[in-house]
Amino acid sequence: MSKLIIEGGSKLKGEIDVQGAKNSALPVLAATLLGNDISVIHNCPKLSDVDAAVRILEHLGCRIQREQDTLVVDARNVDGFTIPESLMREMRSSIVFLGAIISRMKKAVLSTPGGCELGPRPIDLHLDALKKLGVLIEDEHGFLRCQVKDKIRGTKISLSFPSVGATENILLACVLGEGTTTIYNAAQEPEIVDLANYLNRRGANINGAGKSVITVTGVSSLHQAEHWVIPDRIVATTYLCGSVITGGEVCVHKVNTGDLQGVLTVLEQTGAQIRQGNDFVLLKMEGRPCAVKTIRTMPYPGFPTDAQAPVMAALSIAQGTSIFVENIFESRYKHSVELNRMGADIKLEGKVAVCTGVPKLTGATVHAEDLRGGAALVLAGLNAQGITIVKNIYHIDRGYEKIEADFGNLGAHISRVDE
Ligand code: EPZ
Repeated sequence: MSKLIIEGGSKLKGEIDVQGAKNSALPVLAATLLGNDISVIHNCPKLSDVDAAVRILEHLGCRIQREQDTLVVDARNVDGFTIPESLMREMRSSIVFLGAIISRMKKAVLSTPGGCELGPRPIDLHLDALKKLGVLIEDEHGFLRCQVKDKIRGTKISLSFPSVGATENILLACVLGEGTTTIYNAAQEPEIVDLANYLNRRGANINGAGKSVITVTGVSSLHQAEHWVIPDRIVATTYLCGSVITGGEVCVHKVNTGDLQGVLTVLEQTGAQIRQGNDFVLLKMEGRPCAVKTIRTMPYPGFPTDAQAPVMAALSIAQGTSIFVENIFESRYKHSVELNRMGADIKLEGKVAVCTGVPKLTGATVHAEDLRGGAALVLAGLNAQGITIVKNIYHIDRGYEKIEADFGNLGAHISRVDE
């Protein structure tokens, strides 16, 4: 097990390129199953979650090579239709492979994904939608046995919640189905648009991705296409929060600033000076940030739930009190307990967190409990007086390619040590 050791107090200064988006790479890798060909996926971040996706594809019969940040996926000999429980447990978002496996193999067997650190992660929206598309699903003793008797038939699907994963599974299941599928209340995240762009480049017929109504007209087959995964908007947010919490000046490059507007609206309220172009954001912070009255996490294009923890870390040293309302996940404030161990003043009341800023944090030994909460603890360590040790950083490695190298290049005193 590794840990990060951080000596706080340095102002972050400099420029950094942002990695490809984990939450786009995963569904795009699932989509490589939808053709008897070789897919070339660029800007694929080197993450443990991407490694898990690669293991799933290899288990199904794909041959995969990594060349720097490019993955070459040979899906010509796919013959598997099961995801072993070990792999399902390793990464709950493996559920996004279900639609692609069913589309390719007309059947699938996998264990229901466990909950995760963010609370129960139900998949009822995924399964209800797949059943409407003609998939027979038996849920017995934690295993899902899925079968398409005849073929996937297009239909109208109205999601009670704009679930990102359910929207992705529906797209992956119906692009090669018969007829037209219309998804109402679809997720509008940029990762949905990226997946749809990749599928359309391969010959799919998807209209409306990025809006709340998506229409898919099934096609008989998909052809080869290269793809460049979009930049990771949450990693970009994390680095900008590093500038806020250290009173620094950081420019993040290779970002799609259009994807960051929900976050930038909040960061502007901290008093940060923000300059943005098409593919960069410069954030300069003089002194302590101002508190932000209320931050509600919402489906895109609202303020993203994945940004809640990093922004809470940044506002833990703000002048004034910020109120967070976490509307997406049941249990996404675990980082607040650890931040309070570092001198923060965060009180929880159900889905509300009241964050009263303190002048400075103090170093402590803290434990990452989930991916974005772990990143928040690293941010807190950058500010804290003295030494902070962040443990269980395997959570962070799921989503950040090289967090200590990136912050180190910006002037932070941070190192990774194997315990
Ligand atoms: C995706 O998770 C992301 N993961 C999450 O990022 C992100 O926080 C989330 O979308 C929201 O933006 C990936 O893309 C791999 P949802 P997903 O389905 O698809 C409920 C990170 O840190 N729900 O939109 O699982 C669910 O319980 C991760 O990178 C149902 O009730 O999110 C949750 O409360 C964390 N039934 C809400 O909807 C369902 O069938 C949002 O879930 C599905 C979801």
